[in-house]
Amino acid sequence: MSDKIGIVILAAGEGTRLKLELPKPLAPMCNQTLIDFPIQSSMEFLEKTKQSGHLGLVLGHEKERVSSYIDNNFSESKFKIHKATQNEQLGTADAVNSYLRDVKSHSETEVTFILCADTPVISSNELEILHDKLINEKRDAVAATFKTETPKGYGRIIRGGSGFKIVEEKDATEEQRYVTEVNSGFYAIKTKFLVDAIKNIDNKNNSGEFYLTDLFKEDGNVEAICFEEADVFIGVNDLQQLQRAEKILRWKKMRELREEGVRFIDLSHTYVDPSVSIASGSVIYPNVFIEGNSVIDKNCTIEPGSIIRNSHLEEGVEIKAYSHLEDVVVRKQAAIGPYGRLRPGADIGEESKIGNFVEVKKAVLKKGAKVSHLSYVGDAEIGENTNIGCGFITCNYDGAQKHKTIIGKDCFIGSDTQMVAPVEVGDGSFVASGSTINQSIPSGSFAIARSKQVTKENMAKRFLKSKN
Ligand code: UD1
Ligand code: MG
Repeated sequence: MSDKIGIVILAAGEGTRLKLELPKPLAPMCNQTLIDFPIQSSMEFLEKTKQSGHLGLVLGHEKERVSSYIDNNFSESKFKIHKATQNEQLGTADAVNSYLRDVKSHSETEVTFILCADTPVISSNELEILHDKLINEKRDAVAATFKTETPKGYGRIIRGGSGFKIVEEKDATEEQRYVTEVNSGFYAIKTKFLVDAIKNIDNKNNSGEFYLTDLFKEDGNVEAICFEEADVFIGVNDLQQLQRAEKILRWKKMRELREEGVRFIDLSHTYVDPSVSIASGSVIYPNVFIEGNSVIDKNCTIEPGSIIRNSHLEEGVEIKAYSHLEDVVVRKQAAIGPYGRLRPGADIGEESKIGNFVEVKKAVLKKGAKVSHLSYVGDAEIGENTNIGCGFITCNYDGAQKHKTIIGKDCFIGSDTQMVAPVEVGDGSFVASGSTINQSIPSGSFAIARSKQVTKENMAKRFLKSKN
């Protein structure tokens, strides 16, 4: 099936103002990269509207780095991403020409969208609005515009006749500079019109660049849709705009979640990535970071200062203050913290409890297991309803390799116990506190491994040093 829609993302720019040691498309954005956002919005639009289409990425500055990022992250996408190369940055029209030259299948498309790599807030909704306008009103091209009190740097929208033109800052008259309606750099264009009209664009302007904006003419069959919410079109050119774009994306996400029944105690001091999902009935306290592909099921509570990264919390989980979770699963009704540390591979069972200052790594705790205080559980399996006392340590590393500790169900492991792995404790065993266990224990056993106590009456004074 031939593609009806081509979505071109301009990403050849250098982005020097960001002052990052990264090409601009790979700048960080809500724990993803900047380029992910226009790609995701474009794919979501094609998916939602059931259109056949492709994406075209125009690369230039550090093109190999951006290209290999795309290969590593989007090779399995439903829609093809074609890459085009702009060797010299001669302007936005030249960038689009690079796409038309390198991606031959553009000729099959009816509509071409143009997006910039650095406008992460534009969503599939805005693509839909532009597309509908273009088709329903039989326009040649539609541009998204907005109003701003600080139009400096943007192309000004000069309406007149049947259409409008766009005058760039450098070419604008004093009077035109006062115009507050500006160009967002995001367009939907009939491909046939684009291919014909782009040929007539020259670089006779104050920048000496080929401006794509010259497609729009006052007597043209073109339309400018002025969007009320300017935030959608924020461009990321420096670190201040990057911070603002991240904030807008997070707030947009949290407001959507709030509509669905997630309660935020103070949304303005909470940090939820757009990639996260949270179900209704959950309560999120301030200073919480929920990142990556984390999934929070219904009725969870996440207390202040906690960080949840790429983790799944099942229904009714309670994360008490200042806990840190990364790449873990916490099952129904379990409780973590305060000050819990769950590292990759921790799987905390239903109704289990991980108390304060407990670190768990690559370990499975079965239903109802408890590790309540000051412990390290690494490379381990802890059975159902087993209780582990304070100050427990799995000695999992022998300096060269990691080894496993397996403790069965219904055990009681006394405080200040070490398990020198590899070691296994059978179901229903009791280990006395202060034991260093380095041999496996069969089910139902009592094990004690500490030296016998010696008490010498009246001998303390020999050891108590006099203060005089
Ligand atoms: C452009 C618009 C301006 C609009 C503004 C919105 C033009 C002539 N002007 O200006 O009307 O208000 O965006 O942010 O289009 N790029 C290339 N190759 C090039 C030049 C640019 O790939 O040769 C890419 C950049 O990487 C960027 C995008 O195109 O993603 C926009 O380029 P930029 O230089 O930022 O254009 P502006 O001057 O901001
Ligand atoms: Mg720009």
